[in-house]
Parts: sequence; C-alpha cells; structure tokens
Amino acid sequence: MGTRLNISSDLDLDLEKLIGQCIAVLGIRGSGKSNTAGVIFEELLNQQYPMSIVDIEGEYFGLKEKYEVLVVGTGDGVEIEITPDCAAEIAEVSMQQNVPVVLDLSGFLSDERTELLKEYLGALWDLAGKLRRPYIIGIEEAHEFIPQGVKTELKELIARIALRGRKRGLGAIVVSQRSAKVDKDVLSQAGILLLHRVVHEVDMRVYSELLPWRKSEVKEIIGSLETGHCIFVNGDVVQPIYVRERATFHAGFTPTLDAVTPPTLKQVSASIIEAIERAREGKGRRTRTQELEEQLARLEEKLGEKDARISELEDVARTLGYIKVEVPAAAQTSVALVEADEPAAASVAPHLMGVTRRSHREDALAARQRVAAHTGWGILDVAEEEAPDGLPPAVVRHVDRLVNRIERQSPLHRRMLAFLVAHAPDAYTAEQIGAWTNCARSLIEDEPPADLLETGLVERERRTDGIRYRSRLKNFVTSEFGVYQPDIGEQGLHEVARRLRDRLGTA
Ligand SMILES: Nc1ncnc2c1ncn2[C@@H]1O[C@H](COP(=O)(O)OP(=O)(O)OP(=O)(O)O)[C@@H](O)[C@H]1O
Ligand SMILES: [Mg+2]
Repeated sequence: MGTRLNISSDLDLDLEKLIGQCIAVLGIRGSGKSNTAGVIFEELLNQQYPMSIVDIEGEYFGLKEKYEVLVVGTGDGVEIEITPDCAAEIAEVSMQQNVPVVLDLSGFLSDERTELLKEYLGALWDLAGKLRRPYIIGIEEAHEFIPQGVKTELKELIARIALRGRKRGLGAIVVSQRSAKVDKDVLSQAGILLLHRVVHEVDMRVYSELLPWRKSEVKEIIGSLETGHCIFVNGDVVQPIYVRERATFHAGFTPTLDAVTPPTLKQVSASIIEAIERAREGKGRRTRTQELEEQLARLEEKLGEKDARISELEDVARTLGYIKVEVPAAAQTSVALVEADEPAAASVAPHLMGVTRRSHREDALAARQRVAAHTGWGILDVAEEEAPDGLPPAVVRHVDRLVNRIERQSPLHRRMLAFLVAHAPDAYTAEQIGAWTNCARSLIEDEPPADLLETGLVERERRTDGIRYRSRLKNFVTSEFGVYQPDIGEQGLHEVARRLRDRLGTA
C-alpha cells in the first residue's frame, strides 16, 4: 500500500499517484482552488516532497507556519531577493537539495516575471533530465502563462513540463479561474482534475469536454458545488469530494470582521539560506567575459534557428516558383529570377501559372543571396520538377521529414498511430488499441503518445468508458501544409493525406 494523502476524507489518493502528474485545479473566484492547491502542497510537504510554487499574489508564504519553505522574489516578505540572472541557480539548489520554494512574483513587472520564470523553470527542466527524481511545480493563474491559442516561449516550456515531465519525475499543479483561457492540450491531458464550481457557459463547455457527463448534468452538478467542493477526475474515477481546509495560514482567505492573528513562520535552516546566497552571489560575480560568452551562446542559438527558418522559406520559395534556375550548356551557369506569371516561366509548375508574386521578389532574391554568401557558390541547383503525382518537391520533402520524425517515435507509439490512421475517424480506448496492436493496455496508459498529441496527429478525449484516442491526420495535414496553399489546392492536400496515410498506416 502506498502513502495515503489526506486531501479529502472522501478520497483515497496515494502519494505515488502524484509523481510526475499534471494536476489541473479549476473553478471560479472564491470556489476554493487555492485552498485545494494549498492542501495538496501541505500533504506533499508532509512527505518532504520537493517543489516550487509560482505565486503571483503572495498567497503561499503561510505554508511557513508549519514547513521549512523558502520564499524568494522581490519586495516585502521575501527571504531572498532574486533576479532573472540568478533564478536558474536557485532553481537548481531547490531541486538538488530538496528545498521547497515559493517563488513570490507579486513584486515583479510582467516582463521581468516572464524572464525570471523562463530561467527558473528552464533550469528545473534541464536538471530534472539528469536527476530524474520527483519534483512538482505549482502555478497559480495558469491562464496567464499557458494561454489557449497563443504561442510564447514560456508557454512552450510550461506545457512541456506539464505534458512531458513525467519521465523526468516532474509534475505540475496548474490553478486557474479562467478554464476556457487555459491551453486545451494541457487540460485535456492532465492526469488529475479538481473541478470546482463554474457558472459561465464558456467554462461549462470546457468542463463538458473534461467530464464524461451530458451537458445538462455538468451544468446542474457543477453549478451547485459549494466552496471547497469539487469533482475529482483521475482516469476512470470521477468523484465529488470536499477538500479539507488548509492547516496552514491561507493568505488568500476571504476577509471577515474577525481579527486575524498573523502566523508565526518557520525559518529555513541557515545552511540552506547560505547555499542559496552562494548560488545568488556566484551568479552576481560573473566576469564580463562569462557574460559575453553566455550572450554569444544565446545569439548563436538564435542564429541557428534563423538559418533553419531561412532554408524552410527557401524550400517554400522554390516550390512556389519564385526562383528559376537556368543551366546553360556551358560550364558556367547563371541564376535568373522570374515572376511566376511571366511567359519566361516555362518551367514553373502549371498550377502555379497565373499567380502574381511580385511582392515576394525581394524575399526570394535576398534568400538566394544569403545562400550564395553562405555556400560561396553563385548558383542554386534547384531545377526541380514536380513529382509524377503533382506534388511539388518541397512538399514531398516535407512529407518525408514528417515520416522520418514519426519513425523516431517508440515502436508502441508508431503502432498506435498506424492503427488509428488505418481506422480513422473512429476513436478507440487503450484496451481496444492494445488488443489490435498486441500491446499491453497498461503500457498505453502509462506512456500516452505525448508527441503525437502535441503535434496534433492524434487526439485524446475523455468519455464515460475511459480515455479514447483518434487520428486527426486530415486536420493535421490542413494546418501543417497550409503554407503551400493556394498553390497545391485541395487536391494537393488530399494527395499529402493519402501519402501520409499509406506510409504511417503500417508499422
Ligand atoms: N475546503 C474549504 N473549506 C472551507 N473554506 C474554504 C475551503 N476552500 C476555500 N475556502 C474558503 O473560501 C474562500 C476562497 O477560497 P480560495 O482563496 O481557495 O478560493 P480561490 O478559488 O482560490 O479564489 P480566487 O480565484 O479568488 O483565488 C477562502 O476564505 C477560503 O478560506
Ligand atoms: Mg486563489
């Protein structure tokens, strides 16, 4: 038997269940989310489970009433002042030396907050890859950091932790009062949900996707939940529970007329404070050369990304016929740029004829010059022909790249994908997939196809009979190959989907 956590007297939940989990705590203002998250933190702290809590309202320092938790940040009430510069070092001390940290961000301006979190969480992610021990990150107001439909570096990092942290022992507790504004992938893949009261239609809709109930039931049950009551969802378990009250001081409590006695707070041991101070000062004493080296490394990384983007754009430009190459009989060749609608564009694919691309001319020229400068050659040998089935070469290469990427997935996930693609558009449970692909159901449940879900090739949905997966190949093709539109047309997309189906549908 595992270590039972006392979150609610209605619930049997073992500590082991939480390792590497993504837990989503949702509900309207005042429904009890922070209390629920606080109770989970208390239970984990009772087991010396290491953690960092991203606290943007200064709500969690009360944990110090009972536990040795270090509050870092800026402004009143923090024990150690930090800046983005030393955030990574502090994160490392927290993980290496099991120091629970409350990252109080209430005193930072938005940009600095983002910078600090990127450094802090990035360091946790990297170190977790090496140490692979249990660690959990709590994030309040998660909609601010992982907003639905918006792409940011920080969001990408947090989503990665939430969706793919399990193998590193990294778990996350994301708390939000704006269910509809939190990234849907993170919510739909959270292993544990604690759904408190919501009232707005948009939030009800999100809950309907997360709960295996009819919409009318969701509305009735969720709408009548009282403070501290919520629906606990973990796999097939869907259960109403009442979460106990926090044992430690909850700074986010709703004020009453009763006088509040400020709590007596536990101090973190001097050795830990020293370790953190050392980490912080060590960073502060960086030499100018070190700083420049780091800056150089960052710039080189950016340059690498830009180079990759340039070759991607060049691929697209060639496909669309912006660059035409003439190879004269003589050894010396030359490159000519033509408009796709000019008569000289005889070698341009017929379906591209008649499309005016004057606005891209400079782009293509610049791209060509960059390549010339890079390679030292003045010529691009790109007299590419359409493939016999009508797909431009860059599209064919794009398909190849995707197939190569899928081939790097584990055999289990390749077989799952092959099965789902071959049996689209139906959705299947882990048990059904296991039976068809000869894989253990538990294996599928333990190793959900995170990459396939992330790319959008596969979709996961929660139903009354458990979690189901289905292929989303068609939608995936529409969005991934949308860049080639309108040139390859519906027919082209159809052909891409057919090719992918043929190649991915067998494993
Ligand atoms: N399980 C509970 N039992 C009793 N009181 C509770 C419980 N959960 C929360 N409360 C009380 O309800 C009030 C609101 O709780 P809490 O701060 O946790 O809500 P919240 O959902 O986090 O709100 P917000 O969105 O404003 O942050 C607080 O005064 C808190 O003490
Ligand atoms: Mg709260």
